[in-house]
Amino acid sequence: MRNLDKPMKALKTCAAGVLALALAACGGAAETTEVGDAQVVFKLAFNQTEEHPQYLAGVELGRLLAEETDGRYTIEVYPNDQLGGQADVVQNVSDGTVEMLWIGGALMESFNPDYSVFNLPYVFASPQAQDAVLSDEKLVGELFHSLEDSKRLTVLAGVFAGVRNIYNSRRPIRNPEDMSGLKIRVQQSESQVQMIELMGGVPSPMAFGEIYSAMQTGVLDGAENNETVFDAMKHDEVAHYYSYTRHLIIPDYLVMSTEVLEGMSEQDRNSLLELIPQVRAVANDFDPFVRSSIEKAEAVGAQFNDDVDVDAFRERVQPLIQESVNVNQVRQQLYAGVEAANRKHPA
Ligand code: GCU
Repeated sequence: MRNLDKPMKALKTCAAGVLALALAACGGAAETTEVGDAQVVFKLAFNQTEEHPQYLAGVELGRLLAEETDGRYTIEVYPNDQLGGQADVVQNVSDGTVEMLWIGGALMESFNPDYSVFNLPYVFASPQAQDAVLSDEKLVGELFHSLEDSKRLTVLAGVFAGVRNIYNSRRPIRNPEDMSGLKIRVQQSESQVQMIELMGGVPSPMAFGEIYSAMQTGVLDGAENNETVFDAMKHDEVAHYYSYTRHLIIPDYLVMSTEVLEGMSEQDRNSLLELIPQVRAVANDFDPFVRSSIEKAEAVGAQFNDDVDVDAFRERVQPLIQESVNVNQVRQQLYAGVEAANRKHPA
């Protein structure tokens, strides 16, 4: 945690999120404004760019938090893996040296395997169904608090992180046979490895930051992700075929150090928790980013194909869903919640 000098030094820039209480507007007056009481800046680690809705949501959370706590707390978002890859940073959040992190659902599986229910292919019928599940405190509350004792990690929110599809450098994918022999990067978890195996490819679990060069050097033939990662991480430069398998709507989570959360006064903690629905709304606003990503990817020569036999893939992965869900009652209940949401919000 970074404690700013008290009183806070003259503010030199109009940094988004930090100064909301001090600045009615960003302008010359900022040069001499003092914030007053000790202000704490939480570090929020993020592995993607400043255009991503999760980056914007983090900035907005910082701005609102400063407003609500009279400047006692705010947030600085560190994009592009500046603080390290998710698998490393989550350890820092666990020991409280980094306060917050956006993390992929697959990595949460290694701490509590029950998270895997939300990581299975074709499990959510629509982004709306996923949103209904992730915002249902009764359904997910226990899961989100399940790592507080063992890992000192609290999940503040689960959000939409795009619809994932397969892309590769060899050929368009239309059916499971087309996947044969293709080495496809997956997030580092058992469910993701099994998923690609069943879909017909050769899974290769790997950290996010290593994908580009692995594809460039031919270690990988491809990966699977949403259109925004495909373009923003420049994967479209080295893997031209993007095929709409629509196999995964896997959430990301906003994770916080339990230690730090408990160290806040009750009032400030409640202020933070009450802001979470607003943060989710910003993070979930994905469509404009997807549209611009497709345009940019096409401009560098990417080919999108939507003539995929999705049913063939769906059928292939059914054993994985049955096997994973039936492990225990917690997972069965979470899955029942997903099915109810799917009925309300079909594809
Ligand atoms: C998504 C997700 C990230 C995740 C990444 C990955 O883009 O938003 O949290 O790390 O995929 O594939 O590793």
